[in-house]
Amino acid sequence: MTTPYYRPRRLRTSPAMRSLTAETRLHARELVLPMFVREGLSEAREIPSMPGVLQHTRDSLRRAAAAAAEAGLGGVMLFGVPATRDAVGSGATDPDGILNLGIADVVSEVGDALVVMTDVCLDEFTDHGHCGLVRADGSVDNDATLARYVEMALVHAEVGGHMLGLSGMMDGQVGAVREALDAAGHTDTAILAYAAKYASAFYGPFRDAVESTLTGDRKTYQMEPGNRREAAREVALDVEEGADVIMVKPAGPYLDVLADVAAASDLPVAAYQVSGEYAMIEAAAAQGWIERERAILESLVGIKRAGADMILTYWAQEVAGMLR
Ligand code: PBG
Repeated sequence: MTTPYYRPRRLRTSPAMRSLTAETRLHARELVLPMFVREGLSEAREIPSMPGVLQHTRDSLRRAAAAAAEAGLGGVMLFGVPATRDAVGSGATDPDGILNLGIADVVSEVGDALVVMTDVCLDEFTDHGHCGLVRADGSVDNDATLARYVEMALVHAEVGGHMLGLSGMMDGQVGAVREALDAAGHTDTAILAYAAKYASAFYGPFRDAVESTLTGDRKTYQMEPGNRREAAREVALDVEEGADVIMVKPAGPYLDVLADVAAASDLPVAAYQVSGEYAMIEAAAAQGWIERERAILESLVGIKRAGADMILTYWAQEVAGMLR
């Protein structure tokens, strides 16, 4: 072939050229740091299957939230780890429950410098580990669970949570919570709908993080990994019910779903890079089998490229530093 013919390599000749022509960039502002606060802890401790991620005390949670604000992150997502559990997850709705105390602490620490997101789900608080109330026959009772989510959401709004993450995958959860929030005057409390949440093996290390003792699985409420069209249906329902932001979870193994949702939605789209996605890269890097920082950034830029407007990632704090 003779010239002129186009040479894509021209735009790859220098770091400046590559940077100028980059199509996708990460920003600290779009990253959300998930954090765990553990009841009755005297010192923060590392989660064994998530090296670098801590179960916080109330004090260390405050400090970590302040650091997240300082780093310019977009938000934090708070999970509570109670010292005791029961069948209905009482700790979830106790105003002195660990998550509710943690939310109040973080809001008082950072004000609205960060969006303070909260996990509205029962699995951290129930002794059976399910995301809802369980009937005598072992099945999860959707509508009875909605009443518990409503109570939990009202407490989160009351203690100052800005955006409530409905992660339990019960049918009708967004509508039930939106209606109750509005009736109680919390019209400005936003809802992050875990619209397409799959029954994933990649949540494994999270069980460790929240010391959950799930018996069985979540397949009657979380989605089947092979289902793509069903995600559109789940998203449509949550949008109709009043979701403000919709999420796809996990992120990496579901980039096609994320791209579909981002193309179809006029709401902001979030993606959750979950505990197992974190653990895989950390484990491979610890073995020297992968370049850790490059792999982290590549995993995140892929999620962004697929269409996420915001990303929940356990690396949020560190990546904000890398992006400086
Ligand atoms: C439910 C919830 C889970 C995760 C976030 N919210 C656990 C589950 O659905 O099994 C998992 C997040 C992760 O793996 O990082 N409270």
